[in-house]
Amino acid sequence: MNLAIDTTAKTLTIDGKTLPLYGKDAFEILSDLWVKVGWNEKYSYTFTWFGRPVIQLPEDMIRMQEVIWHLKPDAIVETGVAHGGSLIFYSSLLKAIGNGGRVVGIDIEIRAHNRAAIESHPLSDAISLIVGSSIEPATVQAARDAAGDAKTVLVILDSNHYRDHVRAELEAYSSLVSVGSYIVATDGLMQDLTDVPRGQASWGEDNAVVAVHDFLKTHPEFVLERPGFHFNESALDAQRMPTHWPDAWLKRVR
Ligand SMILES: C[S@@+](CC[C@H](N)C(=O)[O-])C[C@H]1O[C@@H](n2cnc3c(N)ncnc32)[C@H](O)[C@@H]1O
Repeated sequence: MNLAIDTTAKTLTIDGKTLPLYGKDAFEILSDLWVKVGWNEKYSYTFTWFGRPVIQLPEDMIRMQEVIWHLKPDAIVETGVAHGGSLIFYSSLLKAIGNGGRVVGIDIEIRAHNRAAIESHPLSDAISLIVGSSIEPATVQAARDAAGDAKTVLVILDSNHYRDHVRAELEAYSSLVSVGSYIVATDGLMQDLTDVPRGQASWGEDNAVVAVHDFLKTHPEFVLERPGFHFNESALDAQRMPTHWPDAWLKRVR
């Protein structure tokens, strides 16, 4: 891609085509590039939520917050805990909602200092931690048991983001998702990172988006549906917002 920005003329020229700099198309082009540059610079490794590191693009967290507010899940299951910031984020939202909802976090390894920080956090009482590979049957069963008889269940897949692992997670956890809720296969951005210094050429095929589309072929109970805006006084397109989660939101429709 050849990109030139002229702030005096207020134009953006992409591959020979000139657009207004201050417009929706330029916003989308610049957002896509900003997300890639930010990923390379580990922008998403600079945030905390109530004191715990959370490895997410804040734009994705705000959108997730919108979904959680409207859905009011009584269980949120997430694969991939790391420092626990996302579990604390979900716990803070469910506590504010006040529905007694629980958060279940699964990780192949929870380091002692992370476990100690999560378990001593003021928001920890809504959180259950499960250690094991997310695709092991015993781990999946433990997650089911921890979700208990929750009626509205949201699942977020944020562990190993390679195709086969995500495909197996989709198979293992999708039946937990209640109708009207989602299973979210995060970090499909990998598909766009083949030309980024920290990325890898193999990610073009080996990513969560490929897993999602393969899953959809045999799971008509799910549709790909990125949540729309709940508030919008802009001319922007909800489907073209900056995200690390392209083609991630699978909504259960029956
Ligand atoms: C991107 S981090 C999770 C970030 C966290 N959700 C957050 O928002 O801060 C990915 C985590 O997945 C875990 N992981 C990798 N392979 C896994 C597997 N097979 N099963 C479960 N967890 C796994 C890693 O140990 C790591 O902690």
